[in-house]
Amino acid sequence: MNDNSSKLILEVGKKYTAECVDLNHDGMGVFKVNGFTIFALNSIIGEVALLEIEKVNSNYAQAKILEIKKKSKDRVTPICKQFLECGGCDLMHMKYSKQLEFKENMGKETLRRIGDLQTVDKVCEGIIGTDNDNYHYRNKVQIPFSKIGKKTVCGFYKKKTHFIIPLEECYIQPQTCNEIAKFVKNLANEYGIDGYVENQKTGILKHLLIRKNSFNEYMVILVTRSEKINCLDEVVKKITNRYPEVKSILLNIQEKDTNVILGSKTVVLYGKDELIDELLGYKFKLSHRSFFQINHNQTEKLYLTVKEFASFNKNDIVLDAYCGVGSIGITLSQSVKKVCGIEVVPEAVENAKENAKINGINNITFYTGKVEEVISDLKDINFDVVVVDPPRKGCDQSFIKTIIDNNIKKVVYVSCNVATLARDIKLLCDYYNVKRVKFVDMFPFSADVESVALLERK
Ligand SMILES: C[S@@+](CC[C@H](N)C(=O)[O-])C[C@H]1O[C@@H](n2cnc3c(N)ncnc32)[C@H](O)[C@@H]1O
Repeated sequence: MNDNSSKLILEVGKKYTAECVDLNHDGMGVFKVNGFTIFALNSIIGEVALLEIEKVNSNYAQAKILEIKKKSKDRVTPICKQFLECGGCDLMHMKYSKQLEFKENMGKETLRRIGDLQTVDKVCEGIIGTDNDNYHYRNKVQIPFSKIGKKTVCGFYKKKTHFIIPLEECYIQPQTCNEIAKFVKNLANEYGIDGYVENQKTGILKHLLIRKNSFNEYMVILVTRSEKINCLDEVVKKITNRYPEVKSILLNIQEKDTNVILGSKTVVLYGKDELIDELLGYKFKLSHRSFFQINHNQTEKLYLTVKEFASFNKNDIVLDAYCGVGSIGITLSQSVKKVCGIEVVPEAVENAKENAKINGINNITFYTGKVEEVISDLKDINFDVVVVDPPRKGCDQSFIKTIIDNNIKKVVYVSCNVATLARDIKLLCDYYNVKRVKFVDMFPFSADVESVALLERK
């Protein structure tokens, strides 16, 4: 327990030597000084470090590590020079096997603590890691722009701030995405297209979004504060001349001052608002607004795990809730009688319908709207299996109640946030047993983990 009097001796700038006794869910080291908790990035359990206090709150402090006095055998030198400044990666100082161990333990602990899943050690089947190279895996990148002094810059937000660390080399983004971002930054400086400065509300270029498919084709989206941009035609021509692999360029206008990156208006500047990707032999058309999993190889393993957990039978009627462009439903459609997909983003549903056609799938129907609302229109369908893959905030409670009331036999829950998965499992646990859990490492070097859980009606 924290002793408040110890707060008095923990002052910003003071230095302490302490041992890392745990890691929190963000992968930050947990240290104790006089019973007071201190968090510091770049630590491994068992290491002893010299800490300098940076911030003191009522019941914890934050520190930076000045020197590691006792090093773990699991420590590696991060390949990225910007690892300590940039908020993108949390675990780049750990061997990959240690990253996987951390994620599995953190996932299990969260299911036990929040989900009250006391059987987690029995039902958890471990974590699926990557096969080889973990670098450059992201197929979608979002790069903020700003202005520092007289120069437009692009980069990444420093952890938990909106202060931009200029992009040098990012090892989780495709190299071509890094290059395109720097190229656009140079064009912005050449043509006087100022980066947006949030606290002054000046400048125009807010973000660059880049999407890459498995065929090394790219979609580039310039997000700006207004439609009036200097020399836009020249910018588009220069990007496509230099990068013929860029198949589509869009301009999205976000006039509002908000953390939501995309605004409501989009103009196509080059090509079409589409990129075609492939998963498990199926083709998927994506628009700039459609969700698509960001790590191609790990997504295939995730979808195969869903199929394995569900152990479908040919007569099953399946609900693919939160279906995006229909990728889970389409990849499992051949194993079942019928699939219904529900998705709230209209452009994604348009993609999903076309994707069914492109792949010659006739037993799938897509519905636009919120799962918790559209589900009442499907009350005459007796679903055997429900696959849910909600956003980070998890499922709406009313939808959980519908699953329970409709006596669904099997639920396969896919989640990118184990805390909300655990919360929803707890809501279901009077009626369902958790039979299997597996984690998938979708985001190497970050503390996040993807989870799949199979729940069966009691
Ligand atoms: C984590 S993604 C999963 C998409 C898809 N299953 C896949 O694997 O690519 C979650 C999806 O749910 C959608 N969504 C968010 N809230 C929703 C809601 N209340 N009802 C329906 N869809 C929703 C998002 O637009 C997004 O496409």
